Amino acid sequence: MNNSDFLKKQYRTSDNLNARAQLHEKFSTSKYRWQIWVFDQIQSDKKLSVLELGCGTGELWLQNKSRINGKWNITLSDFSRGMVEKAQQKLAGIKNIEYKVFGVESIPFPSNFFDMVIANHVLFHAQNVEQAIGEIARILKDDGVFYAATNGEAHTKEIFDIIFQTTGQNHKGEFSSFTAENGAELLSKQFPKVAVRSYPDSLMVTEMEPLFEYIMSMGYFFTGSEKNAIKKKLQQMFLEKGVVKITKKTALFVAQKQ
Ligand SMILES: C[S@@+](CC[C@H](N)C(=O)[O-])C[C@H]1O[C@@H](n2cnc3c(N)ncnc32)[C@H](O)[C@@H]1O
Repeated sequence: MNNSDFLKKQYRTSDNLNARAQLHEKFSTSKYRWQIWVFDQIQSDKKLSVLELGCGTGELWLQNKSRINGKWNITLSDFSRGMVEKAQQKLAGIKNIEYKVFGVESIPFPSNFFDMVIANHVLFHAQNVEQAIGEIARILKDDGVFYAATNGEAHTKEIFDIIFQTTGQNHKGEFSSFTAENGAELLSKQFPKVAVRSYPDSLMVTEMEPLFEYIMSMGYFFTGSEKNAIKKKLQQMFLEKGVVKITKKTALFVAQKQ
């Protein structure tokens, strides 16, 4: 999904992202929370300069606040000023974090600058994913590491099915520019070493309202009768089974230049 106006509207404030995060927070079957798992993958005792791209509201750092290495120099960035301000507000008081507003397509830092770059569910939003990966390779030191998290093609497929069945809108494949399936190939053009780590999880949703809010937060235009049709479909699903299972497929790429 990389329609610029749509994305700017979607991420102007943190409301939509929060609605979706809440569904994952409440109904994920894995007790190993996503941001904790990611932080475990990037841990290092060394003194590092670290850049997060598309930081959103800073959840990665907020959920791991007590574990942030004081020796790291951290820069959090996002193309949405609203997101950066929210992250700054939530993480106030953490001294080794700086904040900047910019997009992944043009990164305002010199070449060979960072030891670690993180893009946690961001690259599929890039206007030009290959250009963004090129920029990341440029600003990363030769012995640096790039961590890129993304979803697989089957991720939340049941939600796309509900939208299609009730409104005829087909939004499947909108995040296909950088997925768990094609990410390694795209990264390997700039990074000779690419490994992938999977995060096993699913959603077992037992309440209708948070699922409805999630669908409404996706930013698609629904008429009043389409909204009603979605609600009716969800009511029917919960009535029949009491629980709605939603597939999650998420992966973290670890990319290195050498
Ligand atoms: C799915 S959210 C992930 C947020 C955060 N990384 C997390 O894990 O909670 C995607 C984020 O990428 C930002 N974003 C979208 N397109 C971007 C771009 N081209 N450059 C930089 N940030 C972008 C959005 O504003 C949003 O905060």
